Amino acid sequence: MTQAEQAAGRPANRGPEEARQIEARKVTRRSFLRVSIFAGLTLTVFAHLAGFLGFFNLLKPKGFGGTVTVVKGRIPEAGDDPARISEGKFWLANLEGAQGDVLQVGGTGGLLAMWWKCPHLGCTIPWRSDFRGASVNFAGIDGWFRCPCHGSTFSRAGIRVFGPAPRPMDTMEVTVNSDGSINFNTGKITFGGSDNPLRSVRYNG
Ligand code: FES
Repeated sequence: MTQAEQAAGRPANRGPEEARQIEARKVTRRSFLRVSIFAGLTLTVFAHLAGFLGFFNLLKPKGFGGTVTVVKGRIPEAGDDPARISEGKFWLANLEGAQGDVLQVGGTGGLLAMWWKCPHLGCTIPWRSDFRGASVNFAGIDGWFRCPCHGSTFSRAGIRVFGPAPRPMDTMEVTVNSDGSINFNTGKITFGGSDNPLRSVRYNG
C-alpha cells in the first residue's frame, strides 16, 4: 500500500485467507437472518392456527364441550337426588330401577347424564327435590326437574310431563372407567326422547 493510499484511508490489500474469512462471516450472517425469519414466520403461522382451532373449539377442550371425568366419590348412590356436575353443565342421575321412567318404556336404572339447558328456550333447569308430583298429575312421585322460566317439568330421567319444552332433557354419552370414575362426553349431546330411561348406563361402583 502506498503512502498516498494510506493517507486516503483506503484499506490495505488483504490476503486470500482474510478475504475468505470475511466472506464466510457474511454467509453466516445471511444464514442466521434467513433461519430467524423462517422461524418467526413458522411461529406466527402456528400461533394463528392455534387461535383458529381454539376459536372453533377444535382443540381438545377441557370442561364443557369436551370429556369431563367424575371421580367415584361424586357419583350419587342409586335412588339419591341427582348430582349437579357444574364443569360439564349436566345433572347426573343414578336411577334405581324404573325411577323416572314415567312413560314406562322399560327403564332398569343406572347412570344418566342430562344437559341442564332447557330444550324450550335454554334456561338452566334446577333439580327440585321439594316439588310434589301431585302438581303435575304424578301423585306420590316427589323430586322433579322444573324449569324456572316457563315451568317445564321433567322426571328424574328427564322425561317431560308438563310445560312448553318440545322434548325431554338432552343426554350425554357416559363411559364407566375401570377405576369406578366416569367419563362424560359433553361434546356428544343427544336430543332427549321418551327412551331417556333406556339410555342409562349400569354402574356397580
Ligand atoms: S325455558 Fe324452560 S320452560 Fe321455557
